[in-house]
Amino acid sequence: MEKTFAIVNQKGGVGKTTTTANLAAGIADCGKKVLTIDLDAQANLSAHYGYIVDNNDTNLSMYDVLRHETKLEDIIIEVEENLYLAPASLLLSAADLELGGVIGRELLLRKALSRIQDQFDYIFIDCPPSLGLLSLNGLVAAGRVIVPVQSEFLALHGVRQLLDTIDQVRSAYNPSLRVGGVLLCLHDSRRRLSKSVAETVREYFGSLVFDTVVRTNVSLAEAPAKGVSIFRYDSRSSGAEDYRSLAEEILANDSEENRLQHKSTA
Ligand SMILES: Nc1ncnc2c1ncn2[C@@H]1O[C@H](COP(=O)(O)OP(=O)(O)O)[C@@H](O)[C@H]1O
Ligand SMILES: [Mg+2]
Repeated sequence: MEKTFAIVNQKGGVGKTTTTANLAAGIADCGKKVLTIDLDAQANLSAHYGYIVDNNDTNLSMYDVLRHETKLEDIIIEVEENLYLAPASLLLSAADLELGGVIGRELLLRKALSRIQDQFDYIFIDCPPSLGLLSLNGLVAAGRVIVPVQSEFLALHGVRQLLDTIDQVRSAYNPSLRVGGVLLCLHDSRRRLSKSVAETVREYFGSLVFDTVVRTNVSLAEAPAKGVSIFRYDSRSSGAEDYRSLAEEILANDSEENRLQHKSTA
């Protein structure tokens, strides 16, 4: 589960889906096999990879995995080289209510993942903009949380509640869950506000904040309409540069941690 990340912030529009889509693609570009999971009924991640959820919703999706115990391997599709997607469905919007009475409803994704997670080097779960049952499933199934925050006024609004939720999930279901990083998104270094928000976030979270900052970049907003990651849309954009740098930061930290672990067990 250490290699499974949940991308969570109950605020919408902070960069969760953009980060999931492009960080996963960046890590896949480094030769790792990566699975992404779309847990948002708006299916923005699915669309970002060119998978259009039709209104009749006849295709199998994460909804069937959570609701009908459909196997994950039956819904996963390859979207780019080394990069796979478990698509969302509009039906997920009803999942909170429909699963309300199911015993073990928080554990559904973790169970579904347990049989296939060894087949992937990294797994990224794009969570919806709420702390409801779907995000809870993401947190229970993950080893690490990435919290994107927008470099805007009120960036930290709601973050305390998110950290409390993470604490609760840790003590009730998932003792190894940790914050894998806070990511500054939509950063505009020419704006004084962006700078002061970045300073506040670094003061608050210290070393938990990724060194990489994702700048505001129009290519990042355009790529989803073409149904491809930023690397396919415009590999020379600042957006591609920033998500490449984030992928490298995570891979470098992980290999350093592996090295230290080997040393201490040797
Ligand atoms: N760094 C960025 N530069 C420009 N636009 C961005 C950037 N990050 C996200 N966006 C755009 O902002 C909007 C919200 O981002 P998104 O990733 O969908 O947020 P969330 O998933 O948290 O709701 C989208 O239209 C997206 O294309
Ligand atoms: Mg989203």
